[in-house]
Amino acid sequence: MKKLNFALIGCGRIGSRHAEHINNVGVLKAVCDIDIEKVTAFGKKYKCAVYTSLDDLLINEKDIDLISICTPNGLHASQTIAALKAGHHVLCEKPMALCPADCGDMIKAAEGANKRLFLVKQNRFNPPIIALKNAIDEGKLGKIYSVQLNCFWNRNFDYYQKSDWKGTKKLDGGTLFTQFSHFIDLLYWIIGDVDRIYAITANHGHDGIIEFEDTGVIALKFYNGVLGTINYTVNSFAKNMEGSITIFGELGTVKVGGQYLNELEYQNIKNFEIKDLPKGNTANNYGEYQGSMSNHDMVYQNIVEVLSGNGVIATNGFEGLKTVEIISKIYNKADLLQEYMKFVHMF
Ligand SMILES: NC(=O)c1ccc[n+]([C@@H]2O[C@H](COP(=O)([O-])OP(=O)(O)OC[C@H]3O[C@@H](n4cnc5c(N)ncnc54)[C@H](O)[C@@H]3O)[C@@H](O)[C@H]2O)c1
Repeated sequence: MKKLNFALIGCGRIGSRHAEHINNVGVLKAVCDIDIEKVTAFGKKYKCAVYTSLDDLLINEKDIDLISICTPNGLHASQTIAALKAGHHVLCEKPMALCPADCGDMIKAAEGANKRLFLVKQNRFNPPIIALKNAIDEGKLGKIYSVQLNCFWNRNFDYYQKSDWKGTKKLDGGTLFTQFSHFIDLLYWIIGDVDRIYAITANHGHDGIIEFEDTGVIALKFYNGVLGTINYTVNSFAKNMEGSITIFGELGTVKVGGQYLNELEYQNIKNFEIKDLPKGNTANNYGEYQGSMSNHDMVYQNIVEVLSGNGVIATNGFEGLKTVEIISKIYNKADLLQEYMKFVHMF
């Protein structure tokens, strides 16, 4: 199969990571960013065409197989739909969008154009997560009773103040969208869809800095009866502390933790042991802060497999939508509670 041609929209922090991996599996033909300095630097480094408008790129670049969308969250839906309608496959960074209706439109656009829509949910490639998912799917833990997801990271003032979109309701959307949507994805992927939600959120440490919560405590009931909690914050003192999932099943308990869901921290399973885990990738390092595991190499490997007819999409549009739907349900519940508390305090 001939090498795939790629275009990249958004030459920021994660865009750099994408460009490196694109270069390993195909040819980066064109890049686009509204920031002329950034896009020019990318163009020089990868010897490719440079655009400051997605529309211009779509009009001029006809020989692109897949477009990677690495722009602020609030732009994912419109840019993905435009790229699909112009006849390209799309890889969209997480979160897929900021509301379920937009995700639905993205899925419809992919179907209408007969093109593939890939989502980045790279935590799925962490070796202990794969082992945990396989153990559950094979019934090694028996019936699953409950799950606990902890996301304890640090995002300081600088992180938000150096960005023109992070911390804004319109383009960022909320801490669960930007920091932890790929953690929520694991709840859907490993446990299933969520029925009932109780949510309390607060902004304790970023008042006046971000337009939404920095902390939340969530209780969940899944459709299959499993009970769960999510405890999340970006106020872990000075640095990221933990990203973990603990599963309590009839036949075993497993905790995958570390800072980035990258270590098998605890297992006690009847007649079974998770062992010989391959060494995983390291976390994305952005200098002042760290992100999730850097598994984008596997995201691009999956794209090559699928587009050459030898694989299934690792995370598809429907799954991306489910994460956005769960996050939206959480925020709706938290808003309702806040409204109710305001009402109660009036009397
Ligand atoms: N999967 C992961 O581990 C991971 C990690 C970091 C970020 N992300 C996601 O990637 C996306 C980008 O995050 P980032 O940290 O790289 O942000 P960033 O601010 O560093 O980069 C975003 C880039 O998009 C550009 N941009 C803004 N509007 C544009 C437009 N209309 N057209 C073209 N370019 C435009 C900006 O100029 C900037 O260069 C976000 O959706 C974020 O949630 C994912």
